[in-house]
Amino acid sequence: MHVELKEIRKYFGEVKANDNISVSLEPGKIYGLLGENGAGKSTLMKILSGYQPQDSGEILLDHKAVDFPSPAAALGAGLGMLYQDPLDIPPFSIIDNYLLGRDNRLSLDYRTVIAEMNEIITRYGFEADIHAHIDTLSLGERQQLELVRLLAGGAQVFILDEPTTGISVEQKDVLFSSMRKLAHEEGKTIILVSHKLDEVQELCDHAFVLRRGKLVGQSTIPCPNEKLVEMMFGQVPTRRERLPFDLGNPALELINVNISTYRLNVSNINLQIFAGEVIGLAGLEGSGQGILLRTIAGLIQPESGQVVVSGQDLTKSSYHKSRNFGVAYCAAGRLEEGLVSKLSLTEHMLLAEPTHTFMIDWPAARERTNSRIEQYQVVGQPESTADQLSGGNQQRLLFALLNPGLKVILLEHPTRGLDVRSMDWIWEQMYARREDGTALVFMSADLDEILERSDRIAVFSGGVMSRVVNASEVSVDQLGHMIGGQA
Ligand SMILES: Nc1ncnc2c1ncn2[C@@H]1O[C@H](COP(=O)(O)OP(=O)(O)OP(=O)(O)O)[C@@H](O)[C@H]1O
Ligand SMILES: [Mg+2]
Repeated sequence: MHVELKEIRKYFGEVKANDNISVSLEPGKIYGLLGENGAGKSTLMKILSGYQPQDSGEILLDHKAVDFPSPAAALGAGLGMLYQDPLDIPPFSIIDNYLLGRDNRLSLDYRTVIAEMNEIITRYGFEADIHAHIDTLSLGERQQLELVRLLAGGAQVFILDEPTTGISVEQKDVLFSSMRKLAHEEGKTIILVSHKLDEVQELCDHAFVLRRGKLVGQSTIPCPNEKLVEMMFGQVPTRRERLPFDLGNPALELINVNISTYRLNVSNINLQIFAGEVIGLAGLEGSGQGILLRTIAGLIQPESGQVVVSGQDLTKSSYHKSRNFGVAYCAAGRLEEGLVSKLSLTEHMLLAEPTHTFMIDWPAARERTNSRIEQYQVVGQPESTADQLSGGNQQRLLFALLNPGLKVILLEHPTRGLDVRSMDWIWEQMYARREDGTALVFMSADLDEILERSDRIAVFSGGVMSRVVNASEVSVDQLGHMIGGQA
């Protein structure tokens, strides 16, 4: 299907999220949509998929003007979108969810539906278990399910907004090969919104670049990364060297920690982490790293063993007690666990503060919020609600909510959804906290990030911490083999 966007404008108050954008997309091709955080990518794609209306401008499908009152109407016309953050996921089984998405054919019986879904799952090499409940699925599995729904709904155009953040390498490979098949064999049109230039190079045929709401460039792919980066930021961002740091006393000690959850048992974790140290947890998704972080945060109680922070035993502490003692946890699911979509930035700030007064001094709180917003360069106002921020700015907000003087910071996929410049900047902010003696423990699906940012790396597979290595002594390939469980 041929897709054309003509002079699309969308303003949010003063913010020109989309400022006169025109692009034309051919069937059978995969397009990359690039741009720094807040550039207007999601806004444009939400307009194309019927999620929100443009202020002015036209959408043409096969050269005919169309107007969608809802995402369902857009899907009816062949446009399907995978959103940056999975929207509300009701706790139904996959099959119910699938039926919900197809209420025009409610008379379908279960057996037909199962056959239809299985056919699609097999054709594209997906692995989602259709009898599972949605809330037990990983992000990557939910995404596959969502694709199945779009495929069954007759989508001709697939819009993927940062689809590889938070999914495993295997799931990414499955996703990419299904996208290639859809475009190059079946003539569908694909749009990939991404910050990962290597992925754009790997998958796309052509890329568009947005900056501050405007289309500032485009190129066929392959194209040198530097050229894309220059279009994205207007210049090639410079990187500062990471300075060596003298580690202090033990900040966090894990002694014979055993954790048992319904999904996985994590056994016999022994690790001493020093003040100022950065530890990366490497492993495939669901290998135990996330469970360990939640245990240190006090969200899960270990079955046995000890969690000691700055000499204090916090093994049986609640999340709130650990938090007040200086253990901060940043969850991966920004709008599910970390932030509350309809609360303002000031309200988030108040919730994150360790002590509360009986009466809230709102003007003062607003002032504090403002200075944090400035420090963390969050594009938004104290009154903005979390869901009004772009994905990358939501991520910045999570960091802005971290109080000073923490003992341990636990980060799940800390730079998920950030552009390269923001990523470097966030890490600089985190390194600056080493001066406070803060130890950092983070997990990431990005092996390059783990290698580059950690002092030491703890490798996880199947709930076992198989080894701890110095980051300077391993290569990406070696690390890849280690997390795959090989020597
Ligand atoms: N519902 C909204 N209300 C107010 N402002 C909004 C809303 N949605 C988006 N914006 C603003 O529009 C601008 C563009 O946001 P958009 O989400 O399109 O960026 P993006 O390119 O997807 O960024 P990211 O890479 O961070 O996801 C941002 O400044 C954002 O704060
Ligand atoms: Mg976005």
